[in-house]
Amino acid sequence: MHILVTGGTGFIGRALVPELLRAGHRVTVLTRSLPEPPPATFAMVTDLADLDGDVDGVINLAGASLADHRWTSRYKQEIVDSRLATTRKLGAFFKALARPPKLWVNASAIGYYGNRADEALDERSQPGTGFAAELCRDWEAAAREAAGPDTRVCVARFGVVLDREGGAYPEMARPFRFGVANWIGNGHQWLSWIHRQDVVRALMLLVERNDLEGVFNVTAPEAVTSRGFCEAMQQVHRTFLRVPMPAFAMRVLVGEMADELLIGGQHVVPAALLEANFCFDFPTLSSALQDIELQSFAADT
Ligand SMILES: NC(=O)c1ccc[n+]([C@@H]2O[C@H](COP(=O)([O-])OP(=O)(O)OC[C@H]3O[C@@H](n4cnc5c(N)ncnc54)[C@H](OP(=O)(O)O)[C@@H]3O)[C@@H](O)[C@H]2O)c1
Repeated sequence: MHILVTGGTGFIGRALVPELLRAGHRVTVLTRSLPEPPPATFAMVTDLADLDGDVDGVINLAGASLADHRWTSRYKQEIVDSRLATTRKLGAFFKALARPPKLWVNASAIGYYGNRADEALDERSQPGTGFAAELCRDWEAAAREAAGPDTRVCVARFGVVLDREGGAYPEMARPFRFGVANWIGNGHQWLSWIHRQDVVRALMLLVERNDLEGVFNVTAPEAVTSRGFCEAMQQVHRTFLRVPMPAFAMRVLVGEMADELLIGGQHVVPAALLEANFCFDFPTLSSALQDIELQSFAADT
């Protein structure tokens, strides 16, 4: 298949594109700026008009990071526009073609469910409230609208994607590297995580299995609490201090984002992936952390 990946230069896209190529797909990445020199094994374009030939599938990952900046009203608008406007632009472009893509895989996030205490959430659970929940709901709706009625649409609600070289993990691991074990707030909030390798494998499953469509929680089957995460980290890092980070300090440090991304949480179950017989390479947090720390050790030596 010829697959167009938006956000293909990002943390997930950088791992996904090589896997798509390995599986024999042709890949074009839509980006805001072209690298110099251009990649040898896939195409990159800044404008949809430069696409070479029909596109069979779209994987839409692009969007300004939710965690990189304080949520000022201006940055919130950028978070929204970078997803909704890009998605609508893609939709308008493909709708004007005689042969629109057969497949549309769209990123979303478990932020869709809002903060839900201990409730176990599967794909049929109702959306929550808050900025992230509304963003995810609107982005998913925009993707369905953009894809059109004859396209197989899969929405991937990603959990917190863990790996060594990007995403949330390097920040989460930093205190542990200095021997300090920590958690945020009372530590009871749920963290629904997934190893990046399993994210890529789940996306490949959605690409390759024509019978799959709809919403997929892309999280490991074993969510943990913030305290549980701390305990698992202590298995792979020697720590000598326990310093919980009070919720109010997080609010002062990062503002509104703290309540939605750090102090709150959601206990998400990947029911649709399990139903599709997806086999996780890293079903438990300890297996994921051992792998990630082994990669770090290999990179540092
Ligand atoms: N990583 C996670 O833990 C996680 C969890 C839940 C949901 N997600 C969602 O999954 C998607 C992919 O995640 P990721 O971690 O790979 O994201 P990422 O590393 O932040 O990369 C996303 C890509 O989006 C493009 N982008 C960034 N700012 C943009 C803007 N203002 N306007 C248009 N495009 C912009 C960039 O591509 P170019 O520079 O090439 O244009 C970037 O490489 C994101 O939408 C993210 O919200 C990720």
